[in-house]
Order: sequence, then C-alpha cells, then structure tokens
Amino acid sequence: MEVCVDSWPDFRTVVLRRQRQFITDDNDAFSNPHAIFATDPAELKRILLEFKVIDWKQSLLLYGISGSSYDILKEMADEKNLALEHLLAPCRVFIHHNPELIEDGWFHKSSKLSSDTTFLAELINKHISYGGSEQSLNYIKKCIELFPSAYISDDEGHFMGWCLTDELSAFRMAYILPEFRNKSYIKGLVANLAKKMHHRGHPIYCFTEKINTISQLICKSLGMTECPHTYYYLKMTPRKSQL
Ligand SMILES: CC(C)(COP(=O)(O)OP(=O)(O)OC[C@H]1O[C@@H](n2cnc3c(N)ncnc32)[C@H](O)[C@@H]1OP(=O)(O)O)[C@@H](O)C(=O)NCCC(=O)NCCS
Repeated sequence: MEVCVDSWPDFRTVVLRRQRQFITDDNDAFSNPHAIFATDPAELKRILLEFKVIDWKQSLLLYGISGSSYDILKEMADEKNLALEHLLAPCRVFIHHNPELIEDGWFHKSSKLSSDTTFLAELINKHISYGGSEQSLNYIKKCIELFPSAYISDDEGHFMGWCLTDELSAFRMAYILPEFRNKSYIKGLVANLAKKMHHRGHPIYCFTEKINTISQLICKSLGMTECPHTYYYLKMTPRKSQL
C-alpha cells in the first residue's frame, strides 16, 4: 500500500491505496483497496477532485470510511457516474487497548493448513456475505497466504471456523460453522489471533456490522472498546457509459 497526504508533516487528509503495479485487473475491486482518513470533508473533496489520488476508472473497495467522508464519496459517485454498493452494512469499530491482557483461548490450528489453502478459501468464499465470485475467492486466498490468521478444525482436520486479517491488519471474516456455535470457539480463536498480531506489533481492531449484536457482545467480552462513529465498507464501480 502507499500513503498520500494533503500536506506534510501537518495533514488533514490521508488516502491509502495499492501501488498501481499490483492492480492487474481494472474490474477487480478486491485487488484495489483504499482507506481514507479526513478531518475536513471539504478538503477531502478538493483533494479528490483536483488530484488523481483515486483512479475512478477502476473498480475499487473503500475500507472503514467514516460518516463525513462517506457523504463526500456519495457526491463523487454521482459526479463520476459510479455505482456505489455497501460491501457490509454500516459498521462499528472495536479496538483493544491492552492486548497484553488477553487470556489464551482454546485453540487448535490445523497442521494441514498449507496444503488446504484453496479448499479453505473456497469454504470461506461460500460463507461470507460478499463472497461467491472468482475475485472474492482470489482475495481470500491472498489474505490466507499473506496475513496472520487462525483456524479451528476437528480431529480429522475438517475446518470448523476461522478468522483472517487483511492488508490493513483488521480482523476479517470471523466465522464458526453453524453446527459448532455457542461453544466459545470464536472467542478462543480471536484471542489467539490477537496475541499473534500484538506480538508482531499490529493493532487489534475489527469492524462489526451494527446489526450484528452477537459479534459486538463478543468484542466487548474480549475487552475491546467500541469507537463512537459509524463506518462504511464500500465498493465503487464505473458504470458503463449510456449511449
Ligand atoms: C458470531 C459467531 C462467530 C460466534 O461464534 P461462536 O463460536 O458461536 O461464539 P462463542 O461460542 O465464542 O460465543 C461468544 C459469546 O457470544 C454469545 N453468543 C454466541 N451466539 C449467541 C447467540 N446466538 N445469541 C446470544 N448470544 C450468543 C455467547 O453466549 C458468548 O457469550 P459469553 O462470552 O458471555 O459466554 C458465529 O455466530 C458466526 O459465525 N456467525 C456468522 C458470521 C458472523 O457474524 N461473523 C462475525 C463477523 S464480525
């Protein structure tokens, strides 16, 4: 990822984007993630309009966009003729301020993971709300291969649940198959992944949909703090020009 700021060292707008050479397909939003931090919506709009910080001809994802930046992006979508979709419902952010206090959880990491990466990615792709496409499958494979993650499997090595992290170190796609729920598996799994991430110097945080009250309870019971604002996970795609 590369970081663009409006000025340095005092900045009001930060845009994170993938380096151009790593975007192999302009139609693959999953290969083109962005994140935006802006303290002044008017300044964000100016930066987006005056500079080519974001290439609007490509499909792209926008992670963890706060409310005021979301309003600007809606205006940009209208102006640039882009379809704007919500990859997730509006989210809350939870962050752990004392990860060293997280207790070890019950954990069993499959020893067969490296050879099962494709199978696991296909399983996850079936279960996440924004899965189901070849592009989402490739993205999940990359997350498994490149970033810390945790899995739980039974004695025969069948996957029961997982939690991945992404290119911004956020916890993603936490899932326990329905037949294994309510046995504290996700808490154990997330606790162990949190320790691994903390050990590597990463922050411990995640986005949970506001409608997902169970996930929010779990975050709180792991000692995480809820941030006050609403955040959005968006996909923006150029509309085909209407002749
Ligand atoms: C959310 C999910 C991962 C929870 O997994 P799980 O292994 O069943 O959760 P746990 O057994 O560790 O339960 C953790 C806590 O949540 C509570 N909980 C779990 N399911 C619950 C339910 N259906 N209703 C009320 N409370 C519930 C448990 O009682 C437990 O509380 P405690 O800490 O006070 O004991 C699982 O339901 C799931 O995969 N859901 C679909 C995907 C999803 O929502 N992922 C999260 C994205 S952020």
